[in-house]
Parts: sequence; C-alpha cells; structure tokens
Amino acid sequence: MSRDLLVKRSILFFLACLYCFLSSSSLLAGEYIDSAHGSSTAGVFRPVIGDAPPQGFGYSRGNCAHCHEQHASIGGSEPVPTTGGASSYELFANNFDTTQKTIPYTESDNFCFYCHNNPTSAQLVVNNDYSQNFGCAPQGPTTIMSAMNQRSYHNLYDVWNFSKDKFSWFTTYSNPCDACHNPHLAKRNWANAKDPAYSAISKPTDHFALWGTTETMDSSYNTKYEPPYCSSSLLNREPNASIDAATGRANTPDYVDFCITCHTTTNTIFSTSLNRNLTAINWDSNGDKHGLRLMDGSVSTKAPYAPNSSGTDFVLSCLDCHEAHGSQNVMLMRRRANGSDLTSTIATFDTKNWGLICLKCHKDDAAAGVGPSNYWEYVHHLVSDAPYFEQGPCVTCHTRGDGFPIDCQECHTHSGTPTKADTRGAGIGTYRIPF
Ligand code: HEC
Ligand code: HEC
Ligand code: HEC
Ligand code: HEC
Ligand code: HEC
Ligand code: HEC
Ligand code: HEC
Ligand code: HEC
Repeated sequence: MSRDLLVKRSILFFLACLYCFLSSSSLLAGEYIDSAHGSSTAGVFRPVIGDAPPQGFGYSRGNCAHCHEQHASIGGSEPVPTTGGASSYELFANNFDTTQKTIPYTESDNFCFYCHNNPTSAQLVVNNDYSQNFGCAPQGPTTIMSAMNQRSYHNLYDVWNFSKDKFSWFTTYSNPCDACHNPHLAKRNWANAKDPAYSAISKPTDHFALWGTTETMDSSYNTKYEPPYCSSSLLNREPNASIDAATGRANTPDYVDFCITCHTTTNTIFSTSLNRNLTAINWDSNGDKHGLRLMDGSVSTKAPYAPNSSGTDFVLSCLDCHEAHGSQNVMLMRRRANGSDLTSTIATFDTKNWGLICLKCHKDDAAAGVGPSNYWEYVHHLVSDAPYFEQGPCVTCHTRGDGFPIDCQECHTHSGTPTKADTRGAGIGTYRIPF
C-alpha cells in the first residue's frame, strides 16, 4: 500500500471515529463552530494538514483534525504508545506529561502548548493575562505558556492530580487545562471582553457547558459587587473599560463560584510549589470579609469602594486580586488592580510588599495624609476604629524595633480566625485576621 493510500485510509477511519464521537457525546456541531477553536476565521489551523496539497491536505480552518488525528497519522509526532496515552483522545501529541511536576514548562509538556506558546511547532496563539485583557494593564506575558512560566502559577500537575479523583468526566489521560476549559466550547472572550456570552471557561462540575454566560457577578451579588476601576483615568470599570459599574458587574462572570468549585472548605488541595496543603477559601458570611462576611466598624477604602449608608457590604471577585494562570508576583497576585499597576513585584511571602496590592483599594498612610506610600500606621493605629493602640513597648509587636514594619501575611490571610477584639495591645505571634 502506498503511503498516500495509507494516509487516506487513516483519515477516513479517523473521520468515522469522529462521527461516532459526535453522535455519542454531547458535543454539538453548532456549539463547536461557534467556539474559538472551531471558528472558520480564527480557529485551529496547522499548516502541515491545512495547506493545499501537496504540502498539506487542504483541511479547512477549524476542522477537528487540526487537533485530533489517528495516532499522529497525518502531521503529528508519533507519541510513545503507552496504554491509553495520547492516542486515547487521538490528539496529534501527548495530552499532558504527568512527569512534569513544576515549571519551566516546554511545548511537549502539554498538548495546548503546541499552539498557546511562542514560538511553536504547530500554530502560534497570542493571549494576554487577565490584568491586561480585563484590567487595562500594559503588555505582559503574551502566551499562556509564558504566563505560566512566571514566579507563581497554577501548577498543572497538581490540577491534574486533584481533578482526576474529583470530576467524573476527567480521566487520568485528561489535560489539566481542561479542568477549567472545554476545548470544544471555549469562546474568544478577549475579543469580546465586555460580553460574558463569549466565555472561555467551563466549571469543572459542569464541563459540557460554558460558565459565566448568564452567571455573572451581577446576577449573583448585584450591587454588593463593585467592579474595580480599569483605565488609569479612573473613569471606567473592569472588565475592559466597561462604561459604568452596572455594565461592569453585568459583564463579569461569577468567578467566585467558578474558583470555589475546587477551593472549597471541604477539599484538600496539595500544592507542589508551596509544599503544603492550601488554606481553604470561605467566601460565605462566616468566612472572609472580602467575601460575604460583614465588615466591622468602618473600612478605610478608596473609591469606588465607598461604604454606603444602607449597609451594603462588598463582595470581591477572586480575579480582582488574582490571575488565573500565572503571575510575576507570588500567589498569582495580579500586577494591576483597581485602575493602576503595582509599583513593584511581590517577590516573597514574608514581606510588607503585600501592601502594594492592598493600597490599590485601601488607604495607606500616603492616601490618609499621614506618611509615605505603603506605610500602614493609619489603619492600624490612627483611624478611629484602629485595631491596635500605639503604645510601648512597641517591640511587643514590632519585634524588629520601633516603627519597623511587620510582615502583613503574619496576620492577613484567607480564612484566618478573626481575633480583633482580643488583640488590642497584645503581642502578635499567632493572630490571624481574615481579609
Ligand atoms: C492547533 C492549535 C491549538 C491547540 C492545540 C489548542 N488551541 Fe486553543 N486556540 C487556538 C486558536 C487558533 C484559538 C483562537 C485564537 C484567537 O482567538 O484568535 C484558540 C483559542 C482558545 C481559547 C479561547 C480564548 C482565545 O484565545 O480565543 C481557549 C480558552 C483555548 N484556546 C484553550 C485551549 C486549551 C485548553 C487547549 C488544550 C486542551 C488548546 N486551546 C489547544 C489554537 C489551539
Ligand atoms: C483545540 C484542539 C481540539 C479541537 C479543535 C477538537 N478537539 Fe476534541 N478534544 C481535544 C482534547 C484536548 C480532548 C481531551 C479532553 C480532555 O483533556 O479530557 C478532546 C476530547 C474529545 C472527545 C472525548 C470526549 C470529550 O469531550 O472530552 C471527543 C469525542 C472529541 N474530542 C471530539 C472532537 C470533535 C468531533 C471535534 C471537531 C468537531 C473536536 N474534538 C475538536 C481537543 C480538541
Ligand atoms: C484553574 C483554572 C484554569 C486553568 C487550570 C487554566 N485556565 Fe485558562 N483561563 C482560566 C480563567 C479563569 C480564564 C479567564 C477568563 C478569560 O480570559 O476569559 C482563562 C483564560 C484562558 C484563555 C483566554 C485568554 C485570553 O486571551 O482572554 C486561554 C487561551 C486559556 N485560558 C488557556 C489555558 C491553557 C492552555 C491552560 C493550560 C496550560 C489553561 N488555560 C489552564 C482558568 C484556567
Ligand atoms: C480545577 C480545580 C481548580 C480551580 C477551578 C481553581 N483552582 Fe486554584 N488551585 C488548584 C490546585 C490543584 C492548586 C495547587 C497547585 C498550585 O499551588 O499551583 C491551586 C492553587 C491556587 C493558588 C496558589 C498558587 C500558588 O502560588 O501556588 C491560588 C492563588 C489559586 N489556586 C487561585 C485560584 C483562583 C483565583 C481560581 C479561579 C480563577 C482558582 N484557583 C480555580 C485547583 C483549582
Ligand atoms: C480590589 C480591592 C481590594 C483589595 C486589593 C484589597 N481589599 Fe481589603 N477590602 C476591600 C473592600 C471593598 C472591603 C470592605 C468589604 C466589606 O464591605 O465587607 C475590604 C475589607 C478589608 C478588611 C476588613 C476591614 C474591616 O474593618 O472589617 C480587611 C482587614 C482588609 N480588607 C484587608 C486587606 C488587605 C490586607 C489587603 C491586601 C493584601 C486588601 N485588603 C486588599 C477591597 C480590597
Ligand atoms: C499591638 C501591636 C502593636 C503595638 C504595640 C505597636 N504597633 Fe505599630 N503597628 C502594628 C501593626 C499590626 C502595624 C501594621 C503593619 C506594619 O505596617 O508594620 C503597625 C504599623 C506601624 C507603623 C507603620 C510601619 C510601616 O512601615 O508600615 C508605625 C510607624 C508604627 N506601627 C509605630 C508604632 C510605634 C511607635 C509603637 C509604639 C509606640 C507601635 N507601633 C506599637 C502593631 C503594633
Ligand atoms: C499584627 C497583626 C497585623 C499585621 C502584621 C498587619 N495587620 Fe493589617 N490589620 C490588622 C487588624 C487586626 C486589622 C483590623 C481588621 C478588621 O477591622 O477586621 C487590620 C486591618 C488592615 C486593613 C483594612 C483597613 C480598612 O480599610 O479598614 C488593611 C488594608 C491592612 N490591615 C493592611 C495591612 C498591611 C499592608 C500590612 C503589612 C504591611 C498589615 N496590614 C499587617 C492586623 C494586622
Ligand atoms: C483582596 C484580594 C484577594 C481576593 C479578592 C482573593 N484573594 Fe486569594 N489571596 C490573596 C492574598 C493576599 C493571598 C496570600 C495570603 C494567603 O495565602 O492567604 C491569597 C492566597 C490565596 C490562595 C492560597 C492560600 C494558601 O494556602 O496560602 C488561594 C487558594 C486563593 N487565594 C484563592 C482565592 C479565591 C478562590 C478567591 C475568591 C473566592 C480569592 N482567593 C480572592 C488575595 C485575595
């Protein structure tokens, strides 16, 4: 049999398989064609099969075969035939290399990186980070792979390891990216950043639908959610310079519900990078104040977070502070928040530089008019409901000496136990204040 005939037969067999796939799965042709990958104008296209013969096979843009093929029969690299391996989804390369446990990631570690990377051997796709697409930040990392290869990232091995035991559709051969995305449905959100109908994400417990198309911060929290400023002019809101608060909250998917599908109070999540189990996130009324828990007394927040007289308590979106894939800062902290860039990176855990993101929304000493930027005497000592008396010996708390800063994470973490009432004048050590 000539090579050409072999290839043709493989393709025929492949298409037959896809047909079986199509009729047996909930994958509907219409939804796929409306997706980013299935788009006939912007979708998947590998020249090696898409170019006109004899260079390629003339497959049109968006065709499933740009990702799926029979054992790399057309233009992929032949993967090692391990049980189930790459061929279980008939992708042109291995779906995910489970031996790759930390960054730096390279193209062959993850099927998606054959395209969501630069340079690539298949098809280059440019993607900006959340701070830029939705938060008006200047240019940052330009691909998903480069976003992940930063100081902090959602560790793909950990996501894979967690998801395979948790979600019934997620198999040991699944791709960790697919815990949050459905490659057959994901849309071009960045190109329509003000329209959540173009969602790029799927909740792991509802993988065969897009998330956030109707489940928005508006529908879940209404005016409790105050979309942060976007442009430096502070005249518009996230996402992507929405004209006002009402539009901004209607344009923002409910990321809280999305993220806490995994980050619940009952799941145990191990982090290889941190080498420990993660703190559980509790956004309910008995959890964090940035969630539904009521603030106490007053807050010293900046616009647009003006506490209003009806007692409205704000609820934040996880992505007001975090990136989804990776960040130059520790803990996936965004490089821009509430309308301006962080002036420096948060490079370590034990630092007062956490304040660089807090001051985007809270009054530091500069904003309160009592001292320099990223100094925090005002909210802790001077404001009327300050938690601590400024009294000697100062070193009870400022263990490194009078006026020396105390690293913020010693007290401020997710899901700490509130101890404000008991801490006046006491030493610090074990206190954990939720934020
Ligand atoms: C063969 C190349 C290719 C592969 C492999 C690939 N993608 Fe894409 N992806 C694209 C292209 C092209 C787009 C559309 C880019 C655009 O919007 O201009 C896209 C878009 C997306 C989008 C929508 C946002 C956007 O940029 O438009 C998501 C989400 C996405 N891909 C996730 C994935 C995931 C997850 C995987 C792996 C399971 C994957 N992709 C594998 C080529 C690819
Ligand atoms: C961007 C690349 C890409 C394109 C294009 C693509 N798929 Fe997939 N497909 C995947 C990946 C990756 C998986 C593995 C899913 C996982 O990780 O669990 C998959 C899995 C599947 C599955 C297994 C069930 C499931 O949904 O997980 C079927 C069936 C399927 N694809 C059919 C198709 C068909 C039919 C088309 C065209 C209409 C298509 N795919 C286009 C990447 C793609
Ligand atoms: C923990 C969940 C999670 C994981 C894991 C994840 N993503 Fe995402 N991804 C998101 C969220 C949230 C967004 C932001 C919503 C948006 O951009 O529309 C996003 C957005 C995207 C986009 C669109 C970016 C743009 O330009 O707007 C692409 C493409 C993408 N992800 C690809 C990937 C790939 C490839 C992987 C694996 C290497 C991956 N994602 C892993 C949650 C995740
Ligand atoms: C599919 C489950 C899943 C979803 C959904 C998910 N995460 Fe995670 N997340 C994990 C796992 C697993 C880890 C541990 C790996 C790690 O630390 O990188 C983690 C770690 C983290 C970390 C610590 C990162 C670090 O520096 O080690 C942060 C912060 C985080 N997630 C925030 C989020 C946010 C924000 C969202 C919503 C956009 C989200 N997660 C959605 C599974 C998930
Ligand atoms: C995107 C804006 C934003 C950022 C960034 C932010 N906060 Fe907040 N914070 C708020 C809002 C709004 C409230 C009020 C919540 C409410 O109304 O329940 C609040 C409330 C608080 C409270 C409760 C105060 C009280 O009197 O009850 C603490 C403590 C707090 N924040 C600490 C921090 C720390 C520490 C950081 C930095 C690591 C930070 N915040 C970053 C917006 C933000
Ligand atoms: C009960 C504990 C406690 C005591 C006692 C205390 N402080 Fe503080 N102080 C704090 C906390 C918490 C902060 C906020 C974290 C930070 O900025 O270091 C703070 C912040 C400050 C700051 C801002 C430092 C910066 O770099 O942001 C100054 C200045 C300061 N305190 C001065 C004093 C002086 C002077 C005394 C003694 C007269 C004193 N404090 C006693 C808890 C205390
Ligand atoms: C010794 C423990 C401790 C340390 C260390 C600490 N804080 Fe606080 N902080 C508190 C307490 C207690 C409150 C009051 C919480 C409340 O009202 O719920 C508070 C409140 C805040 C608030 C909320 C102000 C508002 O709007 O009402 C911010 C912002 C804040 N701290 C930032 C920081 C920063 C930045 C650092 C590091 C430079 C830091 N804190 C270090 C204990 C601490
Ligand atoms: C106001 C900013 C802010 C918001 C909003 C926020 N986070 Fe965080 N997050 C932080 C900071 C600061 C840290 C680092 C301190 C810590 O570990 O708690 C952190 C740490 C984390 C961690 C690592 C916890 C660990 O084990 O150390 C996870 C997971 C996480 N966040 C998830 C979420 C999720 C899910 C949401 C939404 C429900 C969310 N965050 C909303 C600021 C925020």
